[in-house]
Amino acid sequence: MNSISIGTDGVMDFLTEDEINSFSEKVGDIHHSMTNRTGRGAEFLGWMNLPSSISENFIRDLKETALHIRENSDTVVVVGIGGSYLGARAVIEALTPSFSSGNEGNPSILYAGNNISEDYLSELITLLDSKNYSIIVISKSGTTTEPAIAFRILREHIENKYGKEEAKNRIFSITDKEKGALKKLSDEEGYRTFVIPDDVGGRFSVLTPVGLLPIACAGIDIEDLIKGAAEMEKSLNDDQEISDNISNLYAVIRNLLNEKGKAIEIMAAYTPKLQYFIEWWKQLYGESEGKNGKGIFPVGVIYTTDLHSMGQMVQDGVRNIFETILNVESEKGVVKIPEVVDDLDGLNYIAGKRLSEVNEKAMQGTMMAHLDGGVPNVVINIPELSAYYVGQLIYFFERACAVSAYLLGVNPFDQPGVEAYKKNMFKLLGKQV
Ligand code: PA5
Repeated sequence: MNSISIGTDGVMDFLTEDEINSFSEKVGDIHHSMTNRTGRGAEFLGWMNLPSSISENFIRDLKETALHIRENSDTVVVVGIGGSYLGARAVIEALTPSFSSGNEGNPSILYAGNNISEDYLSELITLLDSKNYSIIVISKSGTTTEPAIAFRILREHIENKYGKEEAKNRIFSITDKEKGALKKLSDEEGYRTFVIPDDVGGRFSVLTPVGLLPIACAGIDIEDLIKGAAEMEKSLNDDQEISDNISNLYAVIRNLLNEKGKAIEIMAAYTPKLQYFIEWWKQLYGESEGKNGKGIFPVGVIYTTDLHSMGQMVQDGVRNIFETILNVESEKGVVKIPEVVDDLDGLNYIAGKRLSEVNEKAMQGTMMAHLDGGVPNVVINIPELSAYYVGQLIYFFERACAVSAYLLGVNPFDQPGVEAYKKNMFKLLGKQV
C-alpha cells in the first residue's frame, strides 16, 4: 500500500539539514517520554496506540449501531463542539459527495451544539420537522454549555415528534464512562451510550466512537479509516532518523521555521472537500500549542478560492508565515475542458485537459510565487481522498502535534485558556457557582 509522504524542497532555502538533525536528541527524548508515559499530560496519551488496539468486536458494534440509525433515519444530527465535533465532520466532508443529492442511500449528517446562534438552531428545527431523524450527542465532560443547550432543545423536539419511547430509540450518546450530566441523563433515560476513553482528550478522539459512529452513519468504511491510521502508527517509531519519520520531520520543521520568525502556519488545500479537515487540524494544533505565550498560529485556506482573497496577503504581506499544503495527487471525478470552435473565452489552449491538471499547475505556480515572496512550504502528499489515507493523515497529524507541542515546551493535552470565556459568560448569565 502507498503512504502519504512529505515534500520539504520548499523549506530548504530557509533551513538546513544540519539544523533539522540538531533536533535528534530532543525528539528522541520526547519519544521516550511519550512511550514511557512520563511527560506532561501523559495521562492523555491513549490515542497513541488507539488504531492498533481497536477490536473487531468494537468495530462490529459500532457498525451495527450505525446500520440501525441508517435504517431508521434519513437525517442524523450530531451534537457536539470542538474535539467532539470536528473530527467527524472533517472525515465526512472529505469522503462524501459535496452535493447531498449525490449521496443516495446515506443519511444527511447535520451538526448542532457547535454554536449558540438562534437562527442556526431555529432553521435546523424547521428542517427537522419534515425529516425522519436520529441524534448522536457527544460530550466527554458531559457539561459543555453549547451542546448541552442544543441537546435540551432537540430532545424536546424529538420527543414531541416521536413520543418519549421512540425518541429513546433515536438518541445515542457518547460520553465519559461515569462522570458528567450527559452520562447521568443517558443512564436515566436509557439511551444507548458509547464511552470516550479516559486517556483520550477531545481533539485526539476522532478514532473513538466520537468520530467513528457519525462517520459510519455517513456510509464511510471505518475499518479502512482505522487501517490507515494503524499503518501510520506502525510506520512511525522511536529509533528512526528525523528524515525517516514524517511526523517528527513535520514537527521539527515547523518549530525551526517558528524560531526563524515564521509564527503563522497556513494550511492550504486545493479542494473544498478538505475545508473541515483543515478546521480539525486548526483545533488540534491551536488548542494543543497556544499556551504560556507560545504557539504557532494555525490558519486555513482553500485555494484557488482564497488566492482571490488571502493570496495578496500571503504573497506580499508581513513575512511571518509558512504554508503547509495538502496535495491530493489523484481526483476521482473526471471533468475535461471542452474545445469550442470560436474560442471566445480564449481557453482552447487548455482544451482536453482535466481540471485536476489545471489545479495542479495552479498549485505549482502558487508554491513558486509564494517561495519567491519569502513563504516556505511543506507539502503533504496524499495519493487520493479515501478512508485509508485520511486515517493515515489523522494519525500523522496527531503524532506530529504532540511532538511539536513538546518541542515548544508546552503540555499538548490541556486547554486552560478555554475556561476564561466560560467564567465570564456564566457570570453574565447569572449562573450560581
Ligand atoms: O479538545 C478538546 O478537549 C476540546 O475541544 C473539547 O473537545 C471541547 O471543548 C468539547 O468538550 P466536551 O467533549 O467535554 O463537550
